[in-house]
Amino acid sequence: MPNLAVLVSGTGSILKAMIAQKVPIALVLADRPCRALDIAQAAGVTTKLTERSSFGRDFDRDGYTKQVIAALRACHTDLVALSGFMTLLAAPMFDEYPGRVLNIYPSLLPAFKGDQPVRDALAYGVKLTGCTVHIVTPSRTPGRVIAQAAVTVHAYDTVESLHERIKTKERELYPATIKKVLTTIRD
Ligand code: GRF
Repeated sequence: MPNLAVLVSGTGSILKAMIAQKVPIALVLADRPCRALDIAQAAGVTTKLTERSSFGRDFDRDGYTKQVIAALRACHTDLVALSGFMTLLAAPMFDEYPGRVLNIYPSLLPAFKGDQPVRDALAYGVKLTGCTVHIVTPSRTPGRVIAQAAVTVHAYDTVESLHERIKTKERELYPATIKKVLTTIRD
């Protein structure tokens, strides 16, 4: 079985769904103490805290990326899934795992690529939005789309209610997509 590492920074509701849906996880790595790390520990998943704050005021992105790669190598990682991970990693990450870093994003890419996709979708007045699993590339532009799911926008939606409805979909789409991708990777 290929080894999956999940990278987190936040509340970890999607990580929780992966665990509940029996996605095999070799490592959960966090860039800061967070609820997602607690969820992984409580579920008995191997965890690693590689704190970005220890990489200086002028964040040393290359140095931090090296540490992350070292932790991933130590767990013989084959596939990396970002799940609310808030640190942009430097180019060596993508040399190490070409086409093997996935992310889930709360819009139907390529729409609403900015920092606030849910707010922007609502402001634009779209009637349909959703979530996208995509390959992460060294540039800030999301790479190839792997899977998408649509979510209806209601007239009464707020950013919070819409984001929560999108996350409900993300909790189905990401675990299912990761399971499929894992079957395409040879040990
Ligand atoms: C999700 O909305 C995902 O699209 C984005 O970060 C959020 C993670 O949520 N990349 P959680 O921390 O798993 O609750």
